[in-house]
Amino acid sequence: DNPPALKSIAPFGMGAAVQAGPLRDDPVFAALAARHYTQLTPEWELKMEYVVQPDGRFQFDRADAIAAFCRAHGQKLWGHTLVWYANIPDAFARLDESRASFGQAFDNYITATVGRYRGIANGWDVINEPITDEGGRLRDCLWSQKLGQVDYMRRALDVAHATDPSVPLLINDYDLETKPAKLAAYMRLVETLLKAGAPLGGLGCQTHISAGLPEGAMHRTLEALASFGLPIHLSELDVSLVPGRGAPANRPVAVARQAQVYHEVVEAFVGLPPQQRLALTMWGLRDSDSWLKREDASDAPLLFDDAGAPKPAFAAVAGTL
Ligand code: XIL
Repeated sequence: DNPPALKSIAPFGMGAAVQAGPLRDDPVFAALAARHYTQLTPEWELKMEYVVQPDGRFQFDRADAIAAFCRAHGQKLWGHTLVWYANIPDAFARLDESRASFGQAFDNYITATVGRYRGIANGWDVINEPITDEGGRLRDCLWSQKLGQVDYMRRALDVAHATDPSVPLLINDYDLETKPAKLAAYMRLVETLLKAGAPLGGLGCQTHISAGLPEGAMHRTLEALASFGLPIHLSELDVSLVPGRGAPANRPVAVARQAQVYHEVVEAFVGLPPQQRLALTMWGLRDSDSWLKREDASDAPLLFDDAGAPKPAFAAVAGTL
């Protein structure tokens, strides 16, 4: 077939972030999601900010719709994300009772969410973006304040593991390719969690990068992360064309470099030991679906153009698998 279905040629899971709306309403979107990917990540439908309503009740309607699509197409659901410093719903922010009841609400959220998708979920981003941007330290957030730094992560991993012991549980962060202090802090956190016996089943590397990524950076990053022997998920891959995000200022140069960067990412991932290649997930389908394009209309960071046609970046990925 031309172009080939990525999932039919990849020797590991191929994923994409999707939204429930276009999955239901947009046939081009749905066809791309079904054809190329073995697993789908809800782009925001499984974030606390959506799931936890103002009165504290949970709404899983949109994530359920994505899960139903996955079931209908023989796919898995990647759980994203249980605990995040950002966009904490008011219902939690307002809980200023005792540490015990805060902890109970925290546990209850994780148990309900992980439990609901047992069987269809093949893994969870349990802790999202725990490292600060520049300082290379752990982020101070409501969770660390209420439950203790690192303790909140350990607790989330334990509760998720007790709820679904069969799937890998990950921490997930970005800029590991470009910020050595951030990568170092991420590696220290992994060590700490492993030493404490936490059920950490893999490492998420978001891989929001740009067409200006220095050659070799991806190989070096994956080599460092792989040293723990854990499976690795490239969990949110996109390659920005915007100079403000690090891409070359000359657009044709950036576009050519984008395909090369995609090639290098896939090459580095393919080079990992097979048991460490958990999955490679694109953060969106068409350029027009990308969160980066919503921020800057000139961006075009994905594998398919606005019409859903494969770009040179797609050929670079398919040709490297
Ligand atoms: C982004 C989504 O793409 C947006 O639609 C949403 O408004 C905000 O979050 N790192 C993550 C993702 O872990 O959850 C973020 O997704 C992108 C950065």
